[in-house]
Amino acid sequence: MKKYLVIGNPIDHSLSPKIHNYWFEKYKIENSIYEKEKIEQKDLPTIYEKLKNGELAGVNVTLPFKKSILPILDILETSATETQSVNTIFKENDKVIGTNTDWEGFHRSIEKTLLPNKKNLDDKNIFIIGAGGVTSSIVYALKKLGGKIFVSNRTQKKVEELKNLFPEINVIKWGNKPPRCEIVVNTTSVGLNSADKIDLDFSDYNNNELFFDLIYSPKETNFLKEAKLRGNKIINGKMMFLYQAAFAFSYWTRIKPDIDDEVIELLD
Ligand code: ATR
Repeated sequence: MKKYLVIGNPIDHSLSPKIHNYWFEKYKIENSIYEKEKIEQKDLPTIYEKLKNGELAGVNVTLPFKKSILPILDILETSATETQSVNTIFKENDKVIGTNTDWEGFHRSIEKTLLPNKKNLDDKNIFIIGAGGVTSSIVYALKKLGGKIFVSNRTQKKVEELKNLFPEINVIKWGNKPPRCEIVVNTTSVGLNSADKIDLDFSDYNNNELFFDLIYSPKETNFLKEAKLRGNKIINGKMMFLYQAAFAFSYWTRIKPDIDDEVIELLD
């Protein structure tokens, strides 16, 4: 039996097992199972050992271990080094390798919605809200698409750390406005609780801008609801989540799973 795992803390809410087990069945990959496990920081070396000896065939990493797992892996792919974030682990030639598919999930998701005829975002200003665990993946993806990136985080220190990783970003003090942006991305956790709302004013953003919230449950956070009411385009994190899972799946199985209606519905 090949065993795959998503590790995090908390982990109960994770929908990764549903998706990957659906694909194992759909693509008739036998003797494979994907489970979730709540772990502590001290358990990371055990996870590494199990990957090394084959007890685990692959691992997804979620909050809060995406950064702290880096030092124990044998090899990091460029995406993991540059974002300092690992969400997918596999083994090749007896080496335990960490990579990042979050950025690819976001990249693919924004490409599909935004760029049917365009190859980059060169003429666009982009405002990223937050500087938490996932934000480096978003910056990395947007860097590849081009565009000018502005980032604001409630805690200034964290956005300064992000700037050390990506000197090209423009830091905006929390509460201040960047120049007009065509794309606004919420990477904070505000909105996971549907009553909550980001404490920033976007009331003058009503000209068909794109609002992207990485949160997909609830489907429409207040950030998205209000943006939509003002006549903007909105997109939640559902397709990003599915694409990052698809990229992880193909690292493990060499199969590129189709994002069909059935798998999309698994997240509803
Ligand atoms: P971590 O920062 O530990 O990686 P995270 O869940 O990845 O945790 O990130 C949470 C993000 O949501 C951070 O950008 C956080 O801002 P702070 O750095 O100021 O904590 C942001 N966040 C959470 N609650 C928030 C709130 N009420 N208002 C604004 N930002 C908030």
